[in-house]
Amino acid sequence: MPKVTIQKLQAMKEKGEKISMTTAYDYPTAYFVDKAEIEIILVGDSLAMTVLGLDSTVPVTMEQMIHHIRPVVKGAPNPMIVGDMPFGSYNRSNEQAIHNATRLMKEGGCDVVKLEGGKEVAGIVRAIVDAGIPVMGHIGLTPQTISKLGGFKVQGKSAEAVRKLLEDATALEEAGAFSLILECVPEEAGRLITQKISIPTIGIGAGRYCDGQVLVFHDMVGLFEKFIPKFVKRYANLGEEVVKALKDFKGEVKEGKFPADDHVFGGVSEEELKRLY
Ligand code: KIV
Repeated sequence: MPKVTIQKLQAMKEKGEKISMTTAYDYPTAYFVDKAEIEIILVGDSLAMTVLGLDSTVPVTMEQMIHHIRPVVKGAPNPMIVGDMPFGSYNRSNEQAIHNATRLMKEGGCDVVKLEGGKEVAGIVRAIVDAGIPVMGHIGLTPQTISKLGGFKVQGKSAEAVRKLLEDATALEEAGAFSLILECVPEEAGRLITQKISIPTIGIGAGRYCDGQVLVFHDMVGLFEKFIPKFVKRYANLGEEVVKALKDFKGEVKEGKFPADDHVFGGVSEEELKRLY
């Protein structure tokens, strides 16, 4: 797969070809996601919960994001790599937002950045885009402001709420965002927004009509067990596989079955053994 560009994603939307996207936070995951020819990798701040064991995405720092973006860029040369801007890294001023978006690209090496919010961040998106950094928007359920939203729940159930989501999507497109994540909204809202805006929409719990779909890697392969949102489909159960492998290892160590002949080094000659003993 040749390197995925903004132009390729736009062409995919126009042709009705669906876009696939998943998260990765380290080299080996990125390597396998690239091998599977997934078009976009998000180094999401969801790493707070999936790999750092935190209770929310709020505490993640710029340093942690850069630390995780770097090995992903190394492991996956072909997908587009999206670096997530952590909570508090872009809302203070346009200067702060440009400074931190630039850090994710220069120090992390990602291709584009993503940030959460609708109309209220449109000015910030415009400033980052004008500084030469492509921005992916993120509306609907925005985990960084979960306390404001009152918890992890579907957003946009009333006509007013869907209208507000559409206004947010339009404002982000007008501000120069090249694509939008729609998280946890009714399928009707996902469909309407996807029809009304000309940039690609990537849904997570936003129904079947978005231009693409994203899932958190650890959710889809069964490596995160704290909670499983309704919109997640498990394509593998690696957690169970890993526990089984570890139990087998432990059993064989206890029984003296591992290491076996295949796993040990010989090579000391009879003569050397005689000298030794
Ligand atoms: O951080 C993340 O993984 C995300 C996805 C849920 C889209 O923002």
